[in-house]
Amino acid sequence: MSITRFLTGITTTGTPHLGNFVGSIRPSVAASLTPNVQSFYFLADYHALIKCEDPARIQRSTLEIAASWLAAGLNPEKVTFYRQSDIPEIPELTWLLTCVTGKGVLNRAHAYKASVDKNTAAERDADDGVTAGLFMYPVLMGADILMFKAHKVPVGRDQIQHIEMARDMAASFNHLYGEHFVLPEAAIDDHVATLPGLDGRKMSKSYDNTIPLFSSRDQLKKLIGGILTDSRAPGEAKEVDGSALFQIYQAFATPDETDALRKAYANGIAWGDAKQVLLERVDQVIAPMRAEYEALINNPARIEQTLLAGAERARALATPFIRELRSAVGLRSLVQGTATAKPVKVAKAALPSFKQYREADGKFYFKLVDADARLLLQSTGFDAPKDAGQAIARLQREGFSALAGQLAPVDGVVDADVAAALKALADAAAQ
Ligand code: TRP
Repeated sequence: MSITRFLTGITTTGTPHLGNFVGSIRPSVAASLTPNVQSFYFLADYHALIKCEDPARIQRSTLEIAASWLAAGLNPEKVTFYRQSDIPEIPELTWLLTCVTGKGVLNRAHAYKASVDKNTAAERDADDGVTAGLFMYPVLMGADILMFKAHKVPVGRDQIQHIEMARDMAASFNHLYGEHFVLPEAAIDDHVATLPGLDGRKMSKSYDNTIPLFSSRDQLKKLIGGILTDSRAPGEAKEVDGSALFQIYQAFATPDETDALRKAYANGIAWGDAKQVLLERVDQVIAPMRAEYEALINNPARIEQTLLAGAERARALATPFIRELRSAVGLRSLVQGTATAKPVKVAKAALPSFKQYREADGKFYFKLVDADARLLLQSTGFDAPKDAGQAIARLQREGFSALAGQLAPVDGVVDADVAAALKALADAAAQ
């Protein structure tokens, strides 16, 4: 039975609204509860710096989005739930990916291109007001995704290009340095609605047309009262197509309830009454979460603790993985075997190799394995990695009798096997 790993992030620049709830928070919580799924959800606060220069706002938004996710039922025991900036391995990976990403690819990213097009239309310099952060944004996002070997990335359609770029980065890296990354795919759920805002355009902070997810009932009533409708009078049949009110209702109601409102539209329900129906339905969904949200928001220390615990779990994967990646690109100890310089596949496949590692007892070990990964030699523990490295060097120089007492016996391996492996390594190094 295979496990599918889902990963998604929300940029921490604003207060979550109904559109975020319907489009991202609710479906991500639902996905995390399905069997055979492992979820990684995070607060994309490094991303927030790209579009927000207000520190207090970033902090507040991080708190609000975390509280919203938790109030909506995210279980941090089951989901790896963390804050991006608590994982220093992510900016580190960003650099490794930067070096395998074509600049031309980034030139074509939608968000960057939109800024360039706007500048060009206004006859300004193409890059006017564009930070390198905006330009590099797809690489940071690639690092988010590839770090945790996500298979599926649930996002809105506007993000598909970024997932494809992450896939390309993974493929380029794998091609150059060996198979390290999983190639991710966007997961677009057609049942997840893009919610219209008060003015009928997509609900979005940038249009200032949002309904905050955790408004009080009174605020909710006031905002719903402001949803744009046409001027049809009570008793006149109304159109559901293009009705923001209807679409928002549909995102919160069951299919039967939605049919009932469709009939009411045809029968000429007054806009005021339709808004009342919407208010009741939305409030029915939000009200049970509201108390939990308030409790969370008023206890930032608890959320902080939850996020730090999540980061610890995330880093238990990220720390060894970045070590592996650093070594793969050549950022590695000078005493580590250099025979496998670049994965010139033929040479690598035919050679035995030394592996150095640290055990739970805190000591440093090495082993010698043959080309088929069969164990040939196993060291005892050394206090420092340097000692293990020197032992390997001596072994190569003087043969393995020089290390008597520092080698643990390996069943079924005869001395001649070890000698042959050492000779193969020496010959390869001499070439
Ligand atoms: N860029 C995404 C957005 O604006 C947020 C995000 C950052 C993200 N890193 C991610 C989403 C990684 C999915 C996976 O919506």
